[in-house]
Amino acid sequence: MNVLEFLQNRQSNPHLQGATPDQNSINDILKAGMRAPDHAGLTPWRFTVVKDEGLEKLSKTFKSAAVSDGCDEMKIEKAAKMPFRAPLIIIVSTKYHQHVKVPKKEQLIAAGCATHAMQMAACSIGLGAMWRTGDMSYHPLVKERLGIELHEDIVGFLYIGEKAKELPLKTSKSLDDYVEYF
Ligand SMILES: Cc1cc2nc3c(=O)[nH]c(=O)nc-3n(C[C@H](O)[C@H](O)[C@H](O)COP(=O)(O)O)c2cc1C
Repeated sequence: MNVLEFLQNRQSNPHLQGATPDQNSINDILKAGMRAPDHAGLTPWRFTVVKDEGLEKLSKTFKSAAVSDGCDEMKIEKAAKMPFRAPLIIIVSTKYHQHVKVPKKEQLIAAGCATHAMQMAACSIGLGAMWRTGDMSYHPLVKERLGIELHEDIVGFLYIGEKAKELPLKTSKSLDDYVEYF
């Protein structure tokens, strides 16, 4: 498959399993994230790699966050299980800079581009990946435990692993509904 076909046919896969991707693969994915378009070269993102016992720590963190919210037992258990949906998670957060020409929203977009690039990189080496956010992305306790300052944003939890199953290719949306020429 060439690059164009790859981009036009990519899709997420939430069914992830298997061993932790090796360090070369993880580095290849991270390097793709580092090439994201970046106004003024601010590098307004941070990547937190979660694997092995890190998944346990993240599970405890999510559990504590759900407990602190007064969730019922079912929701607490659900939160605790979330990190185990893949053997590897890369958490992308912002690292905002003050810059006269680069507002915060551009920096958030750049961090989003980094997330997308890493998803594409993971797919390009045959892995599956799924970008998730949800309540835990916005939770102060989660940020605190991850060492992310409260004024920063968690852009996403990028779940990565071997595909437990191949999903049928979704139909592409029609250009006509979303594109105008001016
Ligand atoms: C910023 C962002 C946050 C997302 N958060 C979630 C999420 O929490 N749960 C979820 O099921 N999908 C989430 N998604 C959507 C999936 O990553 C995915 O794009 C969607 O299921 C459509 O599948 P596709 O990528 O194959 O088109 C999010 C996407 C983005 C860009």
